[in-house]
Amino acid sequence: MDYNYFHAQKANRHKRVRGRTVLVIGCNTGGDCRYFVDLGAKEVHGVDVVDGIGRDFPHPTVTYHQESAEAMSLPSGYFDLVYSVATMEHVPDIFRAFSEMARVVKPGGVVYSLAAPLWNSRHGHHYPQYFVNYPWAHLRLSRDEAVRYLEENSVAIAEANGTIQDVVAYMLDARNFNMRPSTDYIAATARLPDLKVKVNMLDREPRGAIPPEVLDELAAKGYDEADLRAITHCFIAKKRKPWRLFWVELSNAAVARSPLARQP
Ligand SMILES: C[S@@+](CC[C@H](N)C(=O)[O-])C[C@H]1O[C@@H](n2cnc3c(N)ncnc32)[C@H](O)[C@@H]1O
Repeated sequence: MDYNYFHAQKANRHKRVRGRTVLVIGCNTGGDCRYFVDLGAKEVHGVDVVDGIGRDFPHPTVTYHQESAEAMSLPSGYFDLVYSVATMEHVPDIFRAFSEMARVVKPGGVVYSLAAPLWNSRHGHHYPQYFVNYPWAHLRLSRDEAVRYLEENSVAIAEANGTIQDVVAYMLDARNFNMRPSTDYIAATARLPDLKVKVNMLDREPRGAIPPEVLDELAAKGYDEADLRAITHCFIAKKRKPWRLFWVELSNAAVARSPLARQP
């Protein structure tokens, strides 16, 4: 199954979106928005900084906003589901972006965020296909060394990725990745106001997965072993309803259940 579709389905199990409002952060050309339209959302919004935002999925149910996840123009407490996949590792200030997600989600709504591969992980450069035999290449090679490695190993670059120089320039450009350690993701999501955390975890490669000589090289540069193994950050949280709203809902439910309410 398609990775993004899998996560849209999973998010939909945490918060049914049929008839509800959804915000997709890092919507790019619109692919993820399509899933939520198909799942029956009544209103979908997509946020991304990219030019050509929503280009592949214009739809009357979807509104696109070309702006950063760190400072959204969207109203507070509006969305039933705030969803983000494969995006937060690109957003410069994840503390602000997660706070924004917590702000715009509705009481009773859910934030679903999956960031991967994290920068300090084996493929944090996002080009696993070109560095199969050179793990953590982005933390170990300079720009010139990376170019030389790809040239000497006659690595074939897909047309869409341009030249070897383009690939290396992209993967080492701080504008493309936040380059934050995995611990920042846990810290940024640990104490968001009014959110009840269901999942806040890092998926790691097993202990011993880092070849000893690579670990020694990266430890000498100050990298932490557990951080180097952290590939994915998954965060799922529900916004608490204020007590006042809770009591109103409870009493409405009680009234609806009472025999008087059933009288013609
Ligand atoms: C790897 S793409 C993922 C797109 C889509 N979520 C997917 O999984 O196919 C990362 C996206 O994050 C967007 N992005 C980067 N920085 C951003 C920011 N500060 N605010 C919102 N989106 C951002 C990029 O423009 C890009 O569309």
